[in-house]
Amino acid sequence: MARINTNYQKLQAGYLFPEIGKRVRAFAAQNPAAKIIRLGIGDVVLPLPPPIVEALKAGADELARKETFKGYGPEQGYDFLLSAIAGHYREQGAQVEPDEVFVSDGSKCDTANIQEIFAADSLIAVTDPVYPVYVDTNVMAGRTGAADASGRYAGLTYLPTTAENGFDPPLPASRVDLVYLCSPNNPTGAVMSRDSLVRWVAWAKANKAVILFDAAYEAFIREPGLPHSIYEIPGAREVAIEFRSLSKTAGFTGTRCAYIVVPKELKGFDASGAEVPLHGLWNRRHTTKFNGVSYPIQRAAAAVFSPEGRAAVRANIDAYMENARLIREGLTAAGYAVHGGKNAPYVWLKVPGGLTSWQFFDKLLGEANVVGTPGSGFGSCGEGYFRLSAFGFRENVEEAVARIAAKLPAR
Ligand code: MLT
Repeated sequence: MARINTNYQKLQAGYLFPEIGKRVRAFAAQNPAAKIIRLGIGDVVLPLPPPIVEALKAGADELARKETFKGYGPEQGYDFLLSAIAGHYREQGAQVEPDEVFVSDGSKCDTANIQEIFAADSLIAVTDPVYPVYVDTNVMAGRTGAADASGRYAGLTYLPTTAENGFDPPLPASRVDLVYLCSPNNPTGAVMSRDSLVRWVAWAKANKAVILFDAAYEAFIREPGLPHSIYEIPGAREVAIEFRSLSKTAGFTGTRCAYIVVPKELKGFDASGAEVPLHGLWNRRHTTKFNGVSYPIQRAAAAVFSPEGRAAVRANIDAYMENARLIREGLTAAGYAVHGGKNAPYVWLKVPGGLTSWQFFDKLLGEANVVGTPGSGFGSCGEGYFRLSAFGFRENVEEAVARIAAKLPAR
């Protein structure tokens, strides 16, 4: 008898974004004339810039010739990409060695998989609201009990990050072994300050805990002085794993390429309390379960760090951040209380009129034909909030803001 992993039965409904997709498809089927504008899932729309496409094509051409053909590559990534990534970290004031970088097919997968190298009974903390992958993968792994009526799982520590505390995650009040932090934050768009990260690094050291730091949106930080990497903080190499992605940074959501940094100094503990380097554990996991990102994609990824690639990627990010500004300012003028959107491609708004997040989702879709993401999908502290993504064509963003202001003003 093939018995299932019953932890899956604890999971709430469907995963957030497919669930939204399902509802939007149903609405579109019933309202074929509606011109729907999608600002829900954070998916890029601008094409890959020319220097990156040229590198992708050149990589493919190499595979077409006997002299330059490649089969399996190093699971961790080719040296040319690892060195480019480490060089980029150095420029940002963070020390990362090429052999501490592991190239992968996405930060969703990396942040989902990382929990495998930690004990099954590890105590986990997440912020609330939170990127759902961190929670669901720990539910699947059996680290939680059942969910309560608000969707919170027994056994997880939730750290409310709300407008009331300036979206700065508070330190856990009780013992925790692993904490997931995301900055710039998905969904709130808030960025953790240097002081806040210093506090977290000191906490992790004092508690022999590990910080799982998701920096997938670091390239969207505009304000000088805000940390792009947790490794800008002294001591962070001993307590943190960092995740980064080219998905939103460089338009790779379909192409797939991301990376994770596991510093050599970072240690976990075995059953006897002896220190064990996490780098070796992750290397073992990665080389057992993953065969590396394809060569042309890694060539394209390396081009992101070239002078031409950087300029082109920067132009696309500028365009998305201009969208974020349009959303922020347009909705503020329409009476909405908005957060984020200054150093992140997400705008987090308070739902007007006492509606729930999903009620607002339906109203926005039905009356303005605009798709967003209900805040409650990111956790109970997200109830009454709503996320709009700045990943769209400018003309669509302008139209979406105009429709919301006209049909659903917040005053
Ligand atoms: C989001 O909209 O939150 C992201 O696109 C989802 C993801 O990156 O997996």
